[in-house]
Amino acid sequence: MQTDRFRRTVVLLAAAVATMAAGGGCERESERESAHAPVAAAGSPAASAGPAAPSATSAPRPGGHLFPMSMAPVLDDPQRDEWQRPDDVVGALSIRPGERIADVGCGTGYFTLRLLRATGATGHVVAVDVQQGMLDILERRLDADAKTRVTLRRNAPDRPLDRSDAVDLVLCANTLYEVGAADVAQFVQSMADGLAPGGRLAVVDWRPTQMRLGPPLEVRMTPARVRELALRAGLAPSQDVDLLPTHMFLVFTKPAGTSKLK
Ligand SMILES: C[S@@+](CC[C@H](N)C(=O)[O-])C[C@H]1O[C@@H](n2cnc3c(N)ncnc32)[C@H](O)[C@@H]1O
Repeated sequence: MQTDRFRRTVVLLAAAVATMAAGGGCERESERESAHAPVAAAGSPAASAGPAAPSATSAPRPGGHLFPMSMAPVLDDPQRDEWQRPDDVVGALSIRPGERIADVGCGTGYFTLRLLRATGATGHVVAVDVQQGMLDILERRLDADAKTRVTLRRNAPDRPLDRSDAVDLVLCANTLYEVGAADVAQFVQSMADGLAPGGRLAVVDWRPTQMRLGPPLEVRMTPARVRELALRAGLAPSQDVDLLPTHMFLVFTKPAGTSKLK
């Protein structure tokens, strides 16, 4: 049964979707390259690692559907848990203590904080987003301990990670559909590059079917397209998790012993 709060969430999401469909909810490309500081550190030694900070030479290309900052509170509405099932998503990833994880398109940290808990006291999460505003919200949610174990990084639109990240797991949730068509192949390649050999990429993204939640149908990706991009980036399909009616949940593995993929 729907509660009033759930109905409010649906209305907010529907409003966001309607705005996005009308082309007004996505920030203009020029706004993405506004005068944000390139990298936000959260107390980690690795905070400034990686060449992924935006620059004048990495301007975003058209076609992306950026989640508007004005809708950021929707990402953490507790009623979202009913359909997103974040604890089950993280549970299905069988994260081991001490793993190094990247949350690509981390937003306000809905998954970041759960990933951090799952990886335990010795684990580390690299939280990457193209919008500094999202990283700022996430930073405010980190306590002193979390600040030592989370690296916040604003990335260039087509390069969320690089080889020096060497993470065991990348989670890319509700983000791939936002990446512009001209950037998406390089974006997936960059996530593959950021994995250590044997590491996994998990893509959780809206299924391309008609439903009352989520972004417009025309911006969603098919599982076949995601698989194609992952394969092209040198990854092997390892799991198709049938957990969420609203989302595909695809896991890929970087072959062990692979030091360089292209
Ligand atoms: C719908 S939100 C999802 C946030 C979070 N993963 C979650 O599920 O709550 C999508 C996020 O992806 C980010 N994003 C979009 N394009 C991106 C890109 N090219 N690189 C990194 N982040 C991107 C947006 O800024 C936004 O924070």
